[in-house]
Amino acid sequence: MKHKLIKKVLMCEPTYFDTLDYAINPWMKPGTIDGAEAMVEWKNLIKAYQSQDIKVEVIKQQKGVPDMVFATDQGIALGKTVILSRFWCDERKGETKYYRQWFEERGYTIKNLPENTYFEGNGDSYFWHDKLLIGVGYRADQRTCQAISKIFNIEVVPLQIIDPAFYHLDVGFLPLNETTAFYYPPAFSKKSREVLKKLVPNLLEFTDDEANGFAANSVVTDHHVVHQSGNPTFKHKLQNLGYTSIEVEMGEFMKSGGGTHCLTNVLEEGWEN
Ligand code: ARG
Repeated sequence: MKHKLIKKVLMCEPTYFDTLDYAINPWMKPGTIDGAEAMVEWKNLIKAYQSQDIKVEVIKQQKGVPDMVFATDQGIALGKTVILSRFWCDERKGETKYYRQWFEERGYTIKNLPENTYFEGNGDSYFWHDKLLIGVGYRADQRTCQAISKIFNIEVVPLQIIDPAFYHLDVGFLPLNETTAFYYPPAFSKKSREVLKKLVPNLLEFTDDEANGFAANSVVTDHHVVHQSGNPTFKHKLQNLGYTSIEVEMGEFMKSGGGTHCLTNVLEEGWEN
């Protein structure tokens, strides 16, 4: 069976993350973030990636856009083409110009979505074989799915998210390899749960505790899973599936409703046996 191997990621140094003063998802606790601690957590995440030979590119954070740290939400990069996000909430719209500049300066072709669409990058999408799954309902919509399908010439499967705490696909769904994925059933509509059951041969459920402990927001590379610490049953399940946990503490980022996966935009990956 083939396994995904991440080669290069983009992350944003959390220099001004502690200035966060708004709440746009139910996890957020504005005014409580410890900036120094967030920096320690972020640097430990980099170390975890480096231990897996993953190259980490870093973009500087700008003032006034605290959630800019969540690099995965900024777009989907496929080769040297990137579809830039169109943020749903005003608080995050200012992040895009900095990422646009970063990608432009490195020779990426930028694809822009139509003005009347919403999309938050890899936070809301996962490639699954020849399809792209997109979480719709909170941060992305059906029009977006059509537009992205055209740009990448790919079949897009919308998955309806129905719980505001699971506002992004990467909070309720986690592909592990070609055949196995985890999901949190209450996060999705009945119809979308059925769609997932048809698409994923080995579809496993997260318990409430696992989902609330941000298990879905993990980063999988080869037989390693970088995930939020303190999730013993998830760790045990991974072990039984032949995966090794690399636990990291992301508590400061969870105060904004984000974790490992949110902080990490995968720029290059491959599939290996
Ligand atoms: N506060 C951010 C928001 O609500 C958190 C984003 C986390 N990103 C993610 N991919 N889940 O937009």
